[in-house]
Amino acid sequence: MFAYYTAMKHSHLMFVVITLCLLNFRFFWKQCAPNKPLHKIFRIVPHVNDTLLLITGAMMAYTVKFIPFVNANWLGLKLVLLVIYIGFGFMAIKSPARSSKAFLGYGLSMLSVGFMVYLALAKPF
Ligand code: HEM
Repeated sequence: MFAYYTAMKHSHLMFVVITLCLLNFRFFWKQCAPNKPLHKIFRIVPHVNDTLLLITGAMMAYTVKFIPFVNANWLGLKLVLLVIYIGFGFMAIKSPARSSKAFLGYGLSMLSVGFMVYLALAKPF
């Protein structure tokens, strides 16, 4: 059980790093080369990665019986922030290149993901 949980946690952290790298890469690529769209693989891989991020998170929560807003308010808020992160990430990538909307979406998506990392590490409530 310990080895399995550790494997899930390390995989989860790897998917966190990948999601951040992909969003940053897609965002900065668009700002630098708005007329050179990325290969369509960069639209598919983030969905696969984010699904795996969700699955590993859900498997850990199920294993140790963390129930959002019941005995793990931090996890509940983390899931709300996940939806917010996806929304702002979408805004950052889909808004016209170098527009204030794109930069606002990017800044707010990074802020929400930072708060998620804080909640996962500190579990303040
Ligand atoms: C962008 C999305 C996410 C980020 C940035 C993120 C971040 C993190 C981090 C940094 C940790 C490690 C905490 C530690 O080392 O103690 C963690 C653990 C965890 N995450 Fe996530 N996570 C995300 C999505 C999710 C989702 C969608 C779920 C649930 C469905 C989830 C559930 C969990 C659980 C249960 C743990 C284990 C906590 C522990 O054992 O201490 N996470 N997450």
